[in-house]
Amino acid sequence: MSKSFDVVVIGAGPGGYVAAIRCTQLGLHTVCIDDWKGAQGKPSLGGTCLNVGCIPSKALLESSENFERLTHDFAAHGICADNASVDVLKMVARKNKIVSDFTLGISQLFKKNKVDSLHGRAQILGRDGDVWRVGITDGEEVRAKHIIVATGSTSRILQQAPLDGVQIVDNVGALSFSETPKRLAIIGAGVIGLELGSVWRRLGAEVTLLEASPAFLPAADEQVAKEALRAFTKQKLAIHLGVQIDGVIQSAEAVKINWRDIHGAAQELVADKLIVAVGRVPNTQGLSVEAVGLKLDAAGRIEVDEQCRTSLPHVYAVGDVVRGPMLAHKASEEGVMVAELIAGQVGGSDLNLVPNVMYTAPEIAWVGKTEQQLKAVGVAYKAGQFPFLANGRARALGDTTGFIKIIADANTDRILGVHIIGPMASELIQQAVLAMAFSASSDDLARTIHAHPSLSEAMHEAALAVDKRTIHI
Ligand code: FAD
Ligand code: NAI
Repeated sequence: MSKSFDVVVIGAGPGGYVAAIRCTQLGLHTVCIDDWKGAQGKPSLGGTCLNVGCIPSKALLESSENFERLTHDFAAHGICADNASVDVLKMVARKNKIVSDFTLGISQLFKKNKVDSLHGRAQILGRDGDVWRVGITDGEEVRAKHIIVATGSTSRILQQAPLDGVQIVDNVGALSFSETPKRLAIIGAGVIGLELGSVWRRLGAEVTLLEASPAFLPAADEQVAKEALRAFTKQKLAIHLGVQIDGVIQSAEAVKINWRDIHGAAQELVADKLIVAVGRVPNTQGLSVEAVGLKLDAAGRIEVDEQCRTSLPHVYAVGDVVRGPMLAHKASEEGVMVAELIAGQVGGSDLNLVPNVMYTAPEIAWVGKTEQQLKAVGVAYKAGQFPFLANGRARALGDTTGFIKIIADANTDRILGVHIIGPMASELIQQAVLAMAFSASSDDLARTIHAHPSLSEAMHEAALAVDKRTIHI
């Protein structure tokens, strides 16, 4: 006999596992079904984020940045470490341990919160009266009034460069190289290409990125993108824009990529490894979308309204499988919102307030609108900016690249966007998110006391700069 629940959550990534926990906290009897297999083929909760995304990439970014600092930056502090070396296998093993600790942690959170957990691929079978039936690969069936689909995304495949998992890889392979490739090619200079390119460059690879877009990081503020391109080029990441990939030829020794540059001239690049990082696609395969009539949008994502309701009654969808940025914190917030809606509470989530972060060095982070977006819709704004070069803490850190820019409405002074490139941008951006969530003006930030010396003083000065009253420049 099939087991009955209030809610079936499909997928245990940051959208699904958070939704499931919030559901049980609210007294809803909940099961979470997930099909991820980790090391040795064992079930591993946490989805893309914990297994092959946010957490492992940040572990390697941190390790490789420590090496970079040791070999390039510490000498200026009077710290000498001659003959420093890297043990890639140990670095990757550390990353794997962080992943397994975290994924195990989700199982423990499920137990603590009394979330039922099932392993297998879930398929929506149909509805009997007001109860949905969901099948699982092993033939088991569960029933519930509500379904939350949180099936995430997978790497977009580039026809010209099919993955073989050894020479040509996506993020999964690129997080587990057993040694630093001498020559590393990356198709796609987006966030994965730049983060993982940074990791392997710091560990000694010659990295070349081939990017289709003629503009670098077009979603970022133009000035930030320009500063970033300058910084990455200085680090010897070779970045080619406006590229077209013609094909890839593999041999036992190397991968040869035939490509055209921005002028249409034929080029070739030979590499030991190739990472393909050209975006991700929503994961709806095997859910029986057509059979049950679940509507998809033009991009193949499950169509939802602002509260993540799908075209089917009592079926919600959250995270990478729906519109909006493909980010873990966005998925989790939607998971919480949907759980609270199912429990009869009021919920909402504002996509304009989702922070974007790139964990490169310098880090890049932003929230809200860019100058180019505001210009495009004719909103009058004023912008204030402050460089880390003039910030005492950044000087002490020896990390003075970049700036903070605050954009405020020209009439109301309400903050419309904040853009950071520089040290600890990932942490600093949260102050901006909080300010915007409370509809703060740039003057509110300017009148807030910031600790000295701290990087956050650059935020304070950027707020003062909106009104042309900076103190330190
Ligand atoms: P996912 O995490 O993809 O989880 C979906 C789960 O559902 C998976 O376990 C999948 O196996 C399972 N599933 C799918 N279909 C079924 C089915 N039919 N039945 C059962 N189970 C199913 N985001 C950030 O915010 N910060 C970062 O630093 C960051 N770094 C990243 C680095 C990399 C290399 C990558 C690839 C992504 C990164 N992301 C980052 C993005 C982040 O991982 C995703 O936005 C996030 O994981 C989306 O969460 P989700 O719950 O929607 O889906
Ligand atoms: P992306 O969208 O950031 O970048 C993909 C890049 O590939 C784009 O610049 C695109 O123009 C380029 N591209 C597409 N087709 C191409 C082609 N044929 N040839 C050459 N270039 C091509 O996607 P990415 O880097 O794959 O990451 C996927 C998602 O994962 C992102 O949407 C991001 O939200 C998430 N992510 C988030 C991170 C973070 O928050 N720090 C880190 C890593 C991933």
